[in-house]
Amino acid sequence: MGATAGSMDPDAGSSENAQRWARFIATCLIGGTVIGVSLLGLHLGIPHQPSLKIWRRKKKPVRVYMDGCFDMMHYGHCNALRQARALGDQLVVGVVSDAEIIANKGPPVTPLNERMIMVNAVKWVDEVIPDAPYAITEDFMRKLFDEYKIDYIIHGDDPCVLPDGTDAYALAKKAGRYKQIKRTEGVSSTDIVGRMLLCVRERSISDTQNHSSLQRQFSHGHSQKLDDSGSRSGTRVSHFLPTSRRIVQFSNGKGPGPDARIVYIDGAFDLFHAGHVEILKHARAMGDFLLVGIHTDLNVSANRGAHRPIMNLHERSLSVLACRYVDEVIIGAPWEVSKDMITTFNISLVVHGTVAEINDFQKKEGNPYAVPISMGIFKILDSPLDITTTTIIRRIVSNHEAYQKRNEKKANSERRYYDDKAYVSGD
Ligand SMILES: *[C@@H]1O[C@H](CO)[C@@H](O)[C@H](O)[C@H]1NC(C)=O
Ligand SMILES: *[C@@H]1O[C@H](CO)[C@@H](O)[C@H](O)[C@H]1NC(C)=O
Ligand SMILES: *[C@@H]1O[C@H](CO)[C@@H](O)[C@H](O)[C@H]1NC(C)=O
Repeated sequence: MGATAGSMDPDAGSSENAQRWARFIATCLIGGTVIGVSLLGLHLGIPHQPSLKIWRRKKKPVRVYMDGCFDMMHYGHCNALRQARALGDQLVVGVVSDAEIIANKGPPVTPLNERMIMVNAVKWVDEVIPDAPYAITEDFMRKLFDEYKIDYIIHGDDPCVLPDGTDAYALAKKAGRYKQIKRTEGVSSTDIVGRMLLCVRERSISDTQNHSSLQRQFSHGHSQKLDDSGSRSGTRVSHFLPTSRRIVQFSNGKGPGPDARIVYIDGAFDLFHAGHVEILKHARAMGDFLLVGIHTDLNVSANRGAHRPIMNLHERSLSVLACRYVDEVIIGAPWEVSKDMITTFNISLVVHGTVAEINDFQKKEGNPYAVPISMGIFKILDSPLDITTTTIIRRIVSNHEAYQKRNEKKANSERRYYDDKAYVSGD
């Protein structure tokens, strides 16, 4: 209406015109009122529509609970959370306290505050409870049901046995409020620590840095050979078999909306950690759509050493995709951000964190960001946390002995799981 009135010319001089103008405005006003009233009538006149909405809102959402240590969070954890979320409408996650982890399985690699950042960043998580107990007690279960309004407690299909030999979820099962999800094959924290220890050990034995064979063992699960030679430390290799379906399950499946401001950030994102989450959050806040470029395994090892990356490209992609701040991922991004790439994805801003292992963004020659810099669309973001993949590896290596012991124990039970395992249906 305003647009129509504005397009007429009120300064048109003649009084006839002015009169016609006044009449036009009056008609508009009356018309407006009529339309306003009829809109009001629509709202009030059909009582069953709003009440239907209220009824829908009243229908209680199904709240499911899952707990865990989420130490060195990986896509296996994320996948479990995705599956748990699919069993209800809201997912509440309990993160076990540092003290409880120390008491039950030795010191965690990542402290509670970092584990909280990681769990909160998973896009399928609705609420997080810090300081959850390691094993669900009757008291805590009551609290979950009464205070947190939890309908079901969820756990993987691997047995969770308490030190006294009893089933940790017996109580919830008895109450009929237990649901099970299928364990994610191919990765566990034990396995990842194993990979790091293996790297450290291999390097100390001989510095041949035969990356290709290491990489092959990791990504294709040549476990037999490694189990024989590496059984002393209990390390085992990845059983991860990437499928296109898993990638789809982790994807948002949505492109940028019209006029979206697309922000690009690239990196290795190896051993996805709280530092990554915080910089991605920061980057996402700079626009409407965050595109993340993940470098290839070959490029990461060329730049960071033969024993890197610890997680292969597909694993790294899944971890990044699970992050709520990420909209889309380029699986195997080029090293250089080219003009063509900027055009292809309509990138309006390229960002980089201040805390990084490779500081190429400061280079004069061969700077991979030379194009966005010259276009004036490159921005350096202050990394909120001073954590890199090296920090994480160092934490583990400095506690080498303790982790090796702990790993050995867990690896045995994991080996038993794989030896005894049978097909389980589900996602
Ligand atoms: C690396 O390992 C592979 C397979 O084990 C072997 O064929 C190759 O010769 C090794 N390369 C080097 C440089 O040692
Ligand atoms: C490209 O991005 C800009 C924002 O930087 C946006 O205004 C424009 O609409 C986008 N182009 C297309 C075709 O979506
Ligand atoms: C890998 O990284 C190096 C920089 O160290 C770069 O020169 C090279 O072009 C990269 N390769 C690819 C395929 O992006």
